[in-house]
Amino acid sequence: MVVKRSVLILNFGSQYVQLIARRVRELGVYSEIVPYHISHEEVREKNPYCLIFSGGPASVYEQDAPLPKPELYNLNIPILGICYGLQTIVHQLGGMVKRSQKQEYGRAKLRVLKEDPLFEGLPREFDVWMSHADKAVKLPENFLSLASSENSPYAVIKHKSKPIYGVQFHPEVAHTQYGKELLANFLFRVSNAEKNWEMGNFIEEKIEDIRQEVGKGKVICALSGGVDSTVSALLTYKAIGKQLHCIFVDHGLLRKGEVEEVEGYFRKMGLPFQRVDAKEVFLQRLKGIEDPEEKRRLIGHTFIEVFEKEAKSFGAEFLLQGTLYPDVVESAGIPGAKVIKTHHNVGGLPERMNLRLVEPLRELFKDEVRMVGRLLGVPEEVLMRHPFPGPGLAIRILGEVKEEDLEILREADYIFIQELKKWGLYNKVWQAFAVLLPVKSVGVMGDVRTYERVVGLRAVDSSDGMTADWSRLPYEFLDHVMRRIINEVKGVNRVVYDISSKPPATIEWE
Ligand code: XMP
Repeated sequence: MVVKRSVLILNFGSQYVQLIARRVRELGVYSEIVPYHISHEEVREKNPYCLIFSGGPASVYEQDAPLPKPELYNLNIPILGICYGLQTIVHQLGGMVKRSQKQEYGRAKLRVLKEDPLFEGLPREFDVWMSHADKAVKLPENFLSLASSENSPYAVIKHKSKPIYGVQFHPEVAHTQYGKELLANFLFRVSNAEKNWEMGNFIEEKIEDIRQEVGKGKVICALSGGVDSTVSALLTYKAIGKQLHCIFVDHGLLRKGEVEEVEGYFRKMGLPFQRVDAKEVFLQRLKGIEDPEEKRRLIGHTFIEVFEKEAKSFGAEFLLQGTLYPDVVESAGIPGAKVIKTHHNVGGLPERMNLRLVEPLRELFKDEVRMVGRLLGVPEEVLMRHPFPGPGLAIRILGEVKEEDLEILREADYIFIQELKKWGLYNKVWQAFAVLLPVKSVGVMGDVRTYERVVGLRAVDSSDGMTADWSRLPYEFLDHVMRRIINEVKGVNRVVYDISSKPPATIEWE
């Protein structure tokens, strides 16, 4: 693989670290997130255009505060410190950082004091987004202030002769006016970075990489119908054709019409796959199981069994997975990075079967995967599909999974999703679905007392599923969906809407 020159982003635990990496890529330059304690030898070896120190929750003067290796300042590689990143520069090079009397959160007016390539093409005053409790109170020798805000005389600082900069605000967030332009100036005017990141090129390069990596070997992949597995399969198919074997396991826990829908998409894209009907074995094993973790475990094991059989008969040596960059960053154990549940549907398989992993999307963010998908001709409906959990409807039926309950849930969920699409709301919410509760409640329909099941509707706004808020769907819409579900789905007499955020709740009910 050709190693690209990149912008290295040192991660001090900021919630915005991935956003910085994405902004740099949006500007056309490849970026990587690395641990803050990266050694100067490693940096030199990577030969980056520049370094960006991210923000972070710590205070530089605390014991054990994360600080970069001081040798980095002598490499003559341009550095931009953002927020906590600015404070590390000040602290390590001999200035002083203190807890601020007036903490600065939110919008602040930035005033440019000195012309600099960093401000090329920007107005002399603009709004920036601040979020800090500490601030620089004395600059290191040889530093000067380029801009101030009401509360920070040192809102932008610079070394007098070396390309070392610091900004107290967050240029990566959308609330900062000209944030992207300022980053562009740092990349192209200060660091002489070259544009080397474009999705069209990515496809060509990746196809070549996959060919090299796989040689004449055979690759197996499990399609889920989701964006990541679809795009990685299509890309790999373009690279190695029939050496790739895709299977789509129908575990009987899919939504109404899903098998046909997904099959239709794959056919349209010209991606050959084999459907494996494993409904019976899954449902048989789930009989009598109420505990959600136990359900997940059983489904996971059964999936591996089914998949292993297929992989063996195909003679696969490689397993294709749709791992994305955020998973890579998280599993690298970078301090401050969030730890998430790993949702690998085929977890454990690679070691057990001695399969090597092919992960063509491991450098990409989700929106970049969508861009690649678009270029490869993946239909928009697939690219914009809501996430759907590997264990499927089994975790949306609380308690034991029975065939008749699957039917009820499928119908209710179908109505909800269909209406969201009709009302133009589907792409406005991040994820939406119905759950079936294991309780009955009293109702009255046509003078007759009923005692039937409760359906919960869940719709959330989120950016990555890590945190979420309930979607403020219009009352008329909810009313309409409630009416349709109770009238059309036999066995349901009550519909509730979930208004819990995550945290403290989760998105799924399980
Ligand atoms: P929670 O319920 O943890 O869900 O807030 C966060 C997101 O993850 C999805 N999810 C899964 N996705 N396999 C997956 O591929 C799984 O086992 C799984 N479990 C939860 C969930 O739908 C939500 O989008």
